[in-house]
Amino acid sequence: MYCERMQCAALENRILCAEEAAAFIKPGMIIGMSGFSTGAPKAIPLELAKPGKFHDLTVIQGAGRGMLTELAQSDAVSRYIAFQWCREMRDMINAGKIAFSDVHLGQLSDKLRAGVFGKVDCAVIACSGIREDGGIIPSLSLGINDALLECAEKVLLEINLAVPTAITGIHDVGGSALCPLGGILERRGEAVLRCDPEKIAGIVITQAEEPEIDIRDTDAVCRGIAKQVRALLDGELAAKRLPAEFTLQAGVGGVANAVLREFSEGGHKNLKMFTEVLADGALGLIAAGVISEASTTALDLSLKGLAAFFANAAFYKEHIVLRPLGTSNSASQITAMGLVAINTALEADIYGNINSTHVLGVDMLNGIGGSNDFCRSAKLSVFITPATAKNGDISCIVPMVPHVDSSEHDTDIIATEYGYADLRGKSPKERARAIIENCAHPDYRAPLLDYFSSASALCGPCQTPHDLSKALSWHSRFLKTGTMKQA
Ligand code: COA
Repeated sequence: MYCERMQCAALENRILCAEEAAAFIKPGMIIGMSGFSTGAPKAIPLELAKPGKFHDLTVIQGAGRGMLTELAQSDAVSRYIAFQWCREMRDMINAGKIAFSDVHLGQLSDKLRAGVFGKVDCAVIACSGIREDGGIIPSLSLGINDALLECAEKVLLEINLAVPTAITGIHDVGGSALCPLGGILERRGEAVLRCDPEKIAGIVITQAEEPEIDIRDTDAVCRGIAKQVRALLDGELAAKRLPAEFTLQAGVGGVANAVLREFSEGGHKNLKMFTEVLADGALGLIAAGVISEASTTALDLSLKGLAAFFANAAFYKEHIVLRPLGTSNSASQITAMGLVAINTALEADIYGNINSTHVLGVDMLNGIGGSNDFCRSAKLSVFITPATAKNGDISCIVPMVPHVDSSEHDTDIIATEYGYADLRGKSPKERARAIIENCAHPDYRAPLLDYFSSASALCGPCQTPHDLSKALSWHSRFLKTGTMKQA
């Protein structure tokens, strides 16, 4: 079959249909898949999802959304590593049907290369074309594709014709992930991925659109959080702790994306971004000149965002570089960049510990992703959260979080729509007062202060007062009564 996106004559005999390619995969295998929000393979996963064909697969993927719905529903997957954004996959994980290993994304490529997850039997990698010299032109994300192509025994490629060729040239693959970049847009590798041609068992030609992404509308809560974050940054700029053209990271999710969109109000110009996902909010800021240079591992764009990107691809390619996850989330790069990291918490406790993953301490939402990679190594680590969830029945500021993803030591600032608490240099007791008074919803401030006072009275002199008989009683109350509010 002739395909103009497949320019490598030596690989022409590897073109197969999806069913033939999927036949290289056997039940029980460890499969590495491309996909970091966008850029997942589309045709081969659908084959794997066909009823009764596959079982007991381990899937390793940077951040799965795309085809995970069908795969999760098919019972083909028994283990999934490392981050997922898929309601059906989440349901299977929380039903105990899929074993989920939640990994710091910044460590994923190194762990793959070290073989800690076992030998990767087959990598299934989406791309937008193959050059004459065998160079694989990546798709809308890079994620762990470089590590998978290196480690996997066999490789199946999917050339997706729905990805415009205008994506070519935006990627930068190769060079040390540890040696700090000279600048956000510095290129020191190639624009293509490389793979030993002997390992390429099949090439499938597809034409499949990216799935749509829900975009949270900007509301009063997000505007309120954005206002607090802008006030914080203005203070940092005035104190000369940040350069005028500082570098940002913004985490995944509707709240962070909506807050970022509000940065257009701050009067900033030529900010830089060093991040893991570049969402619609950031794309708008690049178009407006608020951000002039951005590095990411994935374009995490809605269909409208993708259309805007491709309508003006030449412009965006001057301002954006896509890098492998091992570089985008590398602690040494993050430290060298002097980042302001803005990530979203599900809930924070009065001492600054952050739960980003576990609903009521038990059920998985998405995973830790890169949040800890960034907050741990950033110059300024900001966690944002609406003050309440579920129509006010959950306070997102609680006495104790039932699961810790990022500890108080990784949290400089907590911001809600009511204010921000600057935790730097404060003792736990000082932190508790700052968080309750500045960040908690007014309805929950008095009960939080009551908890803190009674825990302090109970413990007497100590570093971090807690009443262990009551510390998680807010979560228990919600489970029993449907609200954290006291009767
Ligand atoms: N307790 C229980 N549920 C809560 C809650 C809380 N304290 N706070 C929010 N929720 C619920 C919301 O009601 C919503 O439920 P729904 O899907 O049934 O409507 C869900 O959690 C998601 O909340 P939402 O407000 O829509 O948040 P979001 O889209 O901005 O995502 C995170 C927030 C924390 C889930 C998301 O940022 C995430 O997965 N973070 C971890 C990874 C990460 O930070 N990576 C950053 C590096 S790029």
